[in-house]
Amino acid sequence: MREDERSRDVSPGAARAEHAAEHADRRDLDGYELLVAVGGGIAAYKVAHVVSRLIQRGCGVTVAMTEAGTRFVTPLTFQSLTHRPVYTSTWQAVETYDPHHLSLTEKADLFLVAPATADLIGKFTAGIADDLVTTLMIGREGPALLAPAMNSRMWANPIVQENVRRLGEFGFHFVEPAEGYLACGTFGPGRMAEPETILEAVARMLRSRKPKQQS
Ligand SMILES: Cc1cc2nc3c(=O)[nH]c(=O)nc-3n(C[C@H](O)[C@H](O)[C@H](O)COP(=O)(O)O)c2cc1C
Repeated sequence: MREDERSRDVSPGAARAEHAAEHADRRDLDGYELLVAVGGGIAAYKVAHVVSRLIQRGCGVTVAMTEAGTRFVTPLTFQSLTHRPVYTSTWQAVETYDPHHLSLTEKADLFLVAPATADLIGKFTAGIADDLVTTLMIGREGPALLAPAMNSRMWANPIVQENVRRLGEFGFHFVEPAEGYLACGTFGPGRMAEPETILEAVARMLRSRKPKQQS
């Protein structure tokens, strides 16, 4: 054993204390509330990691999912990570009256959509509100950040590109998709940005304002 290894306390207690200290440093999102909408793409599994990391940094996270999103990752995954109900329908019964198609964004400092499918991008552009996620978007209060993910041909489609451009004009923010391996087995642009990139974009946008609950 090297001298530096021998002098370092590696007991489970010391490891726990080190871990806690490291995390205390990283609770830089305490007080912020994020609403995350999970769309129907294979990249939905990566969003679980984003949510977990945000919670570790002190952010309160509530998840809404499209019907297609629930086919890729179950609501239970997000419920377990957030310790909160996961919203999947405009018509979902809640214990007390709460029009969650509106109230969820009122509490949120930021509305993240990941993966933002071609379908959701199209509906947001057209102002369609035919499910919970699209209704939340049209009635939202506060900024929105989209992380698109789709096959390269879908991403290159001029209609999708035009929708992205128009959403930019409407004030939507984007974490641009990367080029790389796509789940359909091809390489190209359209791969959802890596979780770390999304995390940093979320953290940057959140910290640019005071948390709603402090104002
Ligand atoms: C296996 C599989 C993977 C898919 N991946 C994507 C994707 O990455 N991006 C996308 O825009 N659509 C993808 N789709 C199509 C969407 O799931 C479909 O357009 C759906 O209606 C989107 O619903 P939503 O926008 O309400 O979530 C995929 C479909 C399947 C069956």
